[in-house]
Amino acid sequence: MMTEDLKEELVRLRRDIHMHPELGFQEHRTAGLVEGYLRELGIRTWRIGATGVVGEIDNGGERRIALRADMDALPIQEENPVPYASRNPGVMHACGHDAHTAMLLVAAKVLSGMEFEGKLRFIFQPAEEGLNGALEMIKGGALEGVDAIVGLHVWSQLPTGTFAIGDGPVMAAVDRFRISVRGNGGHGASPHETRDPVVCASHIVMALQTIVARNVDPLKSAVVTVGRISGGTAFNVIPDVVEMEGTVRTFEDEVHELVERRVKEIAGEVSSGLGCRAEVEYEHLNRATVNDPRLATIAREVASKIGRVTEEQRNMGGEDFSEYARLVPGVFAFLGVRNEEKGIVHPHHSPRFDVDEEALPLGVQFEVSMALRLLEEGF
Ligand code: NI
Repeated sequence: MMTEDLKEELVRLRRDIHMHPELGFQEHRTAGLVEGYLRELGIRTWRIGATGVVGEIDNGGERRIALRADMDALPIQEENPVPYASRNPGVMHACGHDAHTAMLLVAAKVLSGMEFEGKLRFIFQPAEEGLNGALEMIKGGALEGVDAIVGLHVWSQLPTGTFAIGDGPVMAAVDRFRISVRGNGGHGASPHETRDPVVCASHIVMALQTIVARNVDPLKSAVVTVGRISGGTAFNVIPDVVEMEGTVRTFEDEVHELVERRVKEIAGEVSSGLGCRAEVEYEHLNRATVNDPRLATIAREVASKIGRVTEEQRNMGGEDFSEYARLVPGVFAFLGVRNEEKGIVHPHHSPRFDVDEEALPLGVQFEVSMALRLLEEGF
C-alpha cells in the first residue's frame, strides 16, 4: 500500500507543515496546502470557517465514514536542532498535529486510487489545543451524514510500531476553576484585626486534595490540580484577596459531577469557617473522549495486522475529538512515535518534542484499513 515514493512524500509533507506551524484558527497556510493537495487528487473540498477543510470521496453506497486530523500548533519556541525545525518564532508543532495532517493527506491519496463503495470524509480541523475547533467543525456540518469517525494521535510514550486502543474513556474531561478568596486585609503584625485570605486559601488548597483521596471511589480516576495561586504585595501585609486557578480531570460523568460539587463546597465552606468568602468560577473545557467498544475492537484487529497493539493507554490530557465521538460512534487510537535510539523521547508540548517518522506510514495504513473495513462491513 505504501510505496517508497509515497513514504518520502509523507515525510516531506510532515516536514513542510512542521516548518510552518500556525496557531489555532490561524492555520491559513496549512489549510491552503491541505485543500490544494486534496483537489489535486480530484477530491471535492469545502471550508468550514476560515481554516477548517473537509474533503469527500463519494462512491455512492449507504455508509459514510469520517477520518479526522487536527492542524494547529502551540505557542512554544522549538529547541530541536533539526533542518526542518519551525521557521515561525515562538510557534511549534509540539503535539504532532503536523504528523496527523500529513498522514491523513497521504491516506486520502491512497484511498483515492482504490475502488470501494461508500463515502469517505476527511476532516481537517483547526484549533484543537484549548480552542475547541471540533465544535466549529460540527456547527459547520462536518459530521452531517457521518456513521462513524476515526481519529489518530501520535504518542511519545509509546514506541514506534505500537498502537494503543482502549474501550470507553481514553482521554479526560477537562475543567478549569478559578477561586477568589476574599477576606479583610491589614497589618501583618495584627492578624486578629483581619480575616486572612492567605491562610484560608492555603487550607482550601490542602482540602481540595481530599477530593481524590477521600471522596472519589479509589477504583476510579480523577485529578485536582491547583496550578496558580497569587495574593499579597508585601511580607508584612495581609491582603484582601487571594486568587487561585486549577484544573479537574475525570473520565466518568458521575465522578465529574462529584468533583465539581466538592470543589465548590470546599471552597465555600472552608472560607466561611475561616471568616472569608469564596467566589468560584467553574468551566467545562473538554468532555472525556470515549471510544465506542465495537469500533475499538475493530480498530485493534486492524492495527494488529500493522504493528503491536495494547489497550493500556488512557491519560488525563484533553482532546476535542470527544465532541465528535459524543455525537457519532468514534474511536481514537494512539500511534507510538517514541524511539530511544534516535533520542526521540521528549513528551508532548515540550520544546524538544519530535516524532519518529518511521511510524508515519503505519498511521497511514491504519487510517486506510479502518476506512475500507468500516465501509465494507459496517460495525
Ligand atoms: Ni494533540
